[in-house]
Amino acid sequence: MYFPKEVEIIEVGPRDGLQNEPIAIPTEKKKELISRLAKAGFSRMETTSFVHPKWVPQMADSEEIAHFCKELGINYIALTPNLKALERAISAEVPQMAVFVGASSEFNKKNINKTTSESLDECEPMFAKAKKEGMFIRAYISMAFSCPFQGSVSFEEVKEVCDRFIKLGADEIDVGDTNGQANPQLVYERFSRLRDLYPDTTFVGHFHDTRKMALANVVASMQAGISKFDSSVGGLGGCPYSPGATGNVSTEELLDMVSSMGCQTGVDFNELIKISPFAKSLSTR
Ligand code: HMG
Ligand code: MG
Repeated sequence: MYFPKEVEIIEVGPRDGLQNEPIAIPTEKKKELISRLAKAGFSRMETTSFVHPKWVPQMADSEEIAHFCKELGINYIALTPNLKALERAISAEVPQMAVFVGASSEFNKKNINKTTSESLDECEPMFAKAKKEGMFIRAYISMAFSCPFQGSVSFEEVKEVCDRFIKLGADEIDVGDTNGQANPQLVYERFSRLRDLYPDTTFVGHFHDTRKMALANVVASMQAGISKFDSSVGGLGGCPYSPGATGNVSTEELLDMVSSMGCQTGVDFNELIKISPFAKSLSTR
């Protein structure tokens, strides 16, 4: 089996972990979570989302969170689903933006009110603008394995989104098991094919743990050469437009597993396990 010497764990708890919480979490608590996570040694985190507050009320404080991250001096990612979001992110001096386009058009219509093809068209001016501003571009392919609305998702559907992202100049492609229905065999096959087709592209694995297969999916991804993974402290998370999906793979479980296999991450496990109860206390689930 192949295990990378170094693994980058990108903590997405403050964004994916909290976005689906039904009761407003005070911004001060979110700031506390972010600063404690920063001290645990993450090289970058996903901290907020410039979405419409009507669609995702929990992320209504994105400007304030971005300002806080800047003061803290951390490298972070913010979700930017459209041009308006990108403009807000640029005004807030966000260093890394993330677009998210589903391999399934049905999901896109529900999540961002556009078809896959319309979403990809909007990425064109967005990527150009972000590049001009010197921003790092993370591009998510959501529902990259299956979709609650259309069922299975083909490799060709994933490839179509991936091709376009790469042509537009994404800095990394984040492959999302948004509803947590993937299994290790599918993950291994899909990442192997992507790596064969795009050997120079950086891929990230983003696994939700609905079927408790997220850690197994991480190991399967590693066998296909992937060494970057998103996770959420306390295993919090979920997408408001992905019914039935549960949280992301828990950061502490991921860190425990990869560290015990000898992979370096730069994250302090003892600090992290102290943060986990606090993160969970912010969630109603
Ligand atoms: P829309 O309603 O289609 O937007 O929303 P619109 O272009 O029709 O504009 C309508 C109004 O909204 C206008 O205002 C715009 O200015 C305003 P009005 O003229 O009526 O006063 N507007 C905005 N305001 C603030 N911020 C904006 C914005 N855009 C338009 N960015 C939109 C389109 C994308 C905004 C909406 O669909 C949305 O916010 N969706 C949220 C999607 C979301 O956050 N989903 C969860 C995250 S994705 C996820 O969790 C998956 C992931 O974790 C990966 C994985 O697991 O695979 C990333
Ligand atoms: Mg997610």
